[in-house]
Amino acid sequence: MSLQPKHIYVSLCSLFIIYSFSIYLQPCFKNTIAEYNAVAAGRIVWQKNNCQSCHQLYGLGGYLGPDLTNIYSAKGKGKDFIKTMLRSGIKQMPAFQLNEKEFDELITYLKTVDQSGVADPRRFTILKTGMIEENNE
Ligand code: HEC
Repeated sequence: MSLQPKHIYVSLCSLFIIYSFSIYLQPCFKNTIAEYNAVAAGRIVWQKNNCQSCHQLYGLGGYLGPDLTNIYSAKGKGKDFIKTMLRSGIKQMPAFQLNEKEFDELITYLKTVDQSGVADPRRFTILKTGMIEENNE
């Protein structure tokens, strides 16, 4: 029996169905529902307190304060540093009177943002000549 167009058609349709199933059977989020809710609550704390008006996430937002996309994993910073900054305030940054739950939710949110990518994927080295060179690690 020779290969006929209908065989190719049936094979492609079968592959399409198998592939679609394999995609849709994968979970959208690896987090549990409870973790997902904590992140969502943290985003609300972030929005209610207008952090975005002075800070950026992924490079977007206000420019009075630094980008906070990777603050959670930044060397010498992280959870306790963020908490201290929020409690005490610094220079133009006001102190925030959040309760423990809100602190935890906000930090869970920043942790998830941190895991999702980097603020600026480009890395530059400033050369002695004053020129810049992009590092592609
Ligand atoms: C009125 C503007 C303003 C708002 C609103 C604001 N910040 Fe800031 N924030 C700043 C400024 C300015 C700095 C930098 C202070 C400095 O070191 O000179 C800063 C610094 C920080 C730092 C330390 C960053 C670093 O790398 O040293 C963290 C963490 C931070 N803010 C978190 C937050 C969070 C979370 C919120 C929302 C609850 C928030 N900020 C709201 C202005 C603001």
